[in-house]
Amino acid sequence: MSPPHHFSLRAASLTESDSSFIISAFDASLPYLETIGSLAQWGSTPFSQRPGWVEETQQQLQEPKRNHIADMTNSLRVFVLEAELVEQGIGRKDMEGLHSRVDDDGRRFVLVGFAFVRGNWFPGYLPAVTVAQAWPLQVEDCLYIEVMVSDARTKDLFRGVGAALIQEVRDYGRARGKKILYLDGWAGNERKLVRYYERQGFHEVAGFSLPRSQKEPWVGSLMRLTI
Ligand SMILES: CC(C)(COP(=O)(O)OP(=O)(O)OC[C@H]1O[C@@H](n2cnc3c(N)ncnc32)[C@H](O)[C@@H]1OP(=O)(O)O)[C@@H](O)C(=O)NCCC(=O)NCCS
Repeated sequence: MSPPHHFSLRAASLTESDSSFIISAFDASLPYLETIGSLAQWGSTPFSQRPGWVEETQQQLQEPKRNHIADMTNSLRVFVLEAELVEQGIGRKDMEGLHSRVDDDGRRFVLVGFAFVRGNWFPGYLPAVTVAQAWPLQVEDCLYIEVMVSDARTKDLFRGVGAALIQEVRDYGRARGKKILYLDGWAGNERKLVRYYERQGFHEVAGFSLPRSQKEPWVGSLMRLTI
């Protein structure tokens, strides 16, 4: 059972600890995806071993700092979700291998998930015909979750990380006058991920299929949630 805690969202910092959390949580998602039969979503090679991936991700993490006017542009925002430990509910052994921090007041937080979010943006890989289904819309009214991950290493300790990430990003958008939250998800493995997002309140806008050389096409679903 989860110990008492509550979640809070903060902008990722440029510190080594945030970037190592994000990179290692990406890696930890692959064994998790394998256990649920979804390895084909992102493949089996650890992200950190893919040529150029770590450098590219670290550059992305710098992006929000370079674009101070991010709210009004398509620039990237990277958020980290933390769970505050309000009681000594978990022991030292449970914390092994987890990313945590203690703030100036001595409060203890475990990093449990992250989201890459953009405003006024749709991914370039989406077929035009798929994006067209999202119209009519004012693109400046939209936020897009480019990717979100709940750290597979904290799943046994903290439940509901994905729902909390979505709720916090939604609140972030609402505070900035955004109207619609979009994301896309893998539609393989009997659309399990799509059904998860539907349980979080998203509706499918359109399915799409991306051809790949010497592999099955990557099938996905563009989904929307009213903010
Ligand atoms: C999607 C995610 C953020 C949700 O986080 P969470 O709140 O901790 O929820 P869980 O991990 O318990 O998953 C919730 C359900 O979605 C399913 N699910 C999660 N990711 C899935 C995926 N990539 N493919 C298929 N099903 C998936 C789980 O099996 C679970 O199903 P169940 O309720 O029937 O048991 C998290 O599962 C995750 O990080 N998944 C791997 C990375 C990913 O696919 N991210 C989304 C694409 S950007």
